[in-house]
Amino acid sequence: MISDKMEQALNQQIEKEAYASFLYLAMASWCEQQGLSGCAQFFFRQSDEERMHMLKIFHYVNEMDRFALTPAVAQPPHEYESVRQVFERTLAHEMEVTQAIYDLVELARAEKDHATEHFLQWYVEEQREEEGLMRMILDRIKLIGEGPQSLYFIDKEVEAINAAVQANEQEQEA
Ligand code: FEO
Repeated sequence: MISDKMEQALNQQIEKEAYASFLYLAMASWCEQQGLSGCAQFFFRQSDEERMHMLKIFHYVNEMDRFALTPAVAQPPHEYESVRQVFERTLAHEMEVTQAIYDLVELARAEKDHATEHFLQWYVEEQREEEGLMRMILDRIKLIGEGPQSLYFIDKEVEAINAAVQANEQEQEA
């Protein structure tokens, strides 16, 4: 059993994960428009991943005999200045989500809700990995540089990183 307050907080997190899924979908679309197919693939996969994050909480709430609500999702921005800005915004967004997860952990602790605290540990680890991934990509972008000649190499680099992330996920699922 989880409290009314926890049910509400988890439903808010469902909304945040849904927004992240749509934000990354918008970024995938922008990347495709720029001809950055490697970056687009990266964000399409990230978008799917965020939907999975949302569904995991959704199922947990219902499993705990509460009511998971389908969220209203705000339209994310569609215009970006550069590929670097896209990844900077992604990192900033992931840091916000990390804080939201930490707040949920604090609430679970305050309520002595051990089941939810345990459930949230998966998200704590996931956030650590996602922030690390975005920082690594931003470091690579800085190394490659951002002139028009660099975009092709940035895109290839992100494509390779995406393939590695995907292979790792498939390995974990197997
Ligand atoms: Fe589910 Fe990337 O936060």
